[in-house]
Amino acid sequence: MAHPLIEQAKRIAVLSGAGISAESGIATFRGKDGLWKNYRPEELATPQAFDRNPELVWEWYAMRLNIVLSAKPNQAHYLLANLEKEKDLTLVTQNVDRLHHRAGSANVLELHGNISHSRCLQCGHLSLLEKDFSYPPLCKVCGGRTRPNVVWFGETLPISVFQKSIQAFESCDLALIIGTSAVVEPAASLARLAKNKGAKVIEINPQTTSLSHLSDLSIRAGAAKGLQELLNN
Ligand code: OAD
Repeated sequence: MAHPLIEQAKRIAVLSGAGISAESGIATFRGKDGLWKNYRPEELATPQAFDRNPELVWEWYAMRLNIVLSAKPNQAHYLLANLEKEKDLTLVTQNVDRLHHRAGSANVLELHGNISHSRCLQCGHLSLLEKDFSYPPLCKVCGGRTRPNVVWFGETLPISVFQKSIQAFESCDLALIIGTSAVVEPAASLARLAKNKGAKVIEINPQTTSLSHLSDLSIRAGAAKGLQELLNN
């Protein structure tokens, strides 16, 4: 049997972060081996950085896309995809790696976009990027300059994705927070929103975070083991 909080839940909203993909071999951002230890966000993940040196920014995204395309979803991604078949579940992810989609999740909201597409700066067309693509890629429709289809520091989130995420967390009776340090806003506030509306909150993370104190259940484990424990799978 799954944990009573799962059994009783009618509507589940999940927020996932880089930690859920750590067991697929994709580096997280913060922490000992985090990406931001080796790279400076302001040189790579801001509109100013892209204006200054688009080649460098594209090189970084091409490198990360190659890693992501060689990686496979792990059991945590699959367990969430299965749970969606049994429950009314909305999965909000800060991850740009598309591993939730590849594991079979359908109701996914990508808060920070994804790195598998480029976005045309002229016509807005999204083009799928392939492994080892040559950069900077041009728009497949109008030939215009493109940028990675992600949200950078200092940019606003895609409005309709964010609104749907708020709706999911305001209307859920269980918020499941997995593998996020909960330091980047407004993503981290979604859990508080759910809590304020009376939802139960479960956190799965090997470390404590700023959301731990408001969680009804904190599972101090990796995402796959923690979800197995919760779902008794
Ligand atoms: P972080 O790198 O900030 O945090 C990763 C979290 O995962 C930490 O709290 C770890 O303790 C936890 N963790 C590590 N291994 C884990 C495992 N096996 N299972 C579960 N949890 C594990 O990543 P995010 O919170 O996702 O934004 O970062 C948020 C945003 O900051 C990212 O989307 C990105 C970054 O800058 C943008 O690029 C806009």
